[in-house]
Amino acid sequence: MEFPATELVPSAASAAATGAALGEPALAPGSDLSRQSLRLLAALRRHHAASADHSIRVATVLLAMASNPASQLGAPALVVAAGLMHDLGKLFLPVSLLDAARSLTAQETTAMRAHPVTGAETLTALRFPEPVVAAARDHHERWLGGGYPLGCRGITLSPLSRAVCVADAFVAMIEPGRTYRPRLTVAQALAEVEACSGTQFDPGFAAVLVQGLGPAFQQELGLDAAPGRWQPRERDGLLLSHRLEHALGLPPCPW
Ligand SMILES: [Fe+2]
Ligand SMILES: [Fe+2]
Repeated sequence: MEFPATELVPSAASAAATGAALGEPALAPGSDLSRQSLRLLAALRRHHAASADHSIRVATVLLAMASNPASQLGAPALVVAAGLMHDLGKLFLPVSLLDAARSLTAQETTAMRAHPVTGAETLTALRFPEPVVAAARDHHERWLGGGYPLGCRGITLSPLSRAVCVADAFVAMIEPGRTYRPRLTVAQALAEVEACSGTQFDPGFAAVLVQGLGPAFQQELGLDAAPGRWQPRERDGLLLSHRLEHALGLPPCPW
């Protein structure tokens, strides 16, 4: 089934046009940012549970990367918000398109490739910090260029954007439910990240990811759970969800 482009890509400019938050300062890394991120994540989960689970996994991988001092990714709340919000633009795409188990038409591909921009526009309207907005806009760019929406080279992107590029691609390789390509084990995906270091991915962040994660991460990321049914497992006496909440500065959330 094909959709009119206007139906597929409702302009996030309409969100910006509400203007309710315009002129106000950006959300500070802290509880405002975290609460707003979780509200939007809940909306994404209601729309498409698999996209919300994916976003939590990307945030989890980013948090692991940020724990490496060499990454210099900044405040954990900012890093987690960038992971949780990077695919917010998928909120504006029909579930039938998000779940399409076939090759997409040219029009559908155009609509799908708009999600970084619609997400970034929405986050701008909601006064998210610029690095979080940029990470949403840039997460499908490539280190040597040729990605989308801009096709720019990775060196021109912020460090947080470059980290989200590699974390997002890594999670997409190992997740269930991707019918258009084979699902890899964590070990295979780490090898793929290494193979694409310096072409698709920033070599520095590719190294941070490969060195920081191991096959045990497969269990931690709940890859065998049905969409919306992921219950993070306890590790080192601390649930993954608790670590995220701690980073976000929030009371316990029912993940
Ligand atoms: Fe995306
Ligand atoms: Fe993603």
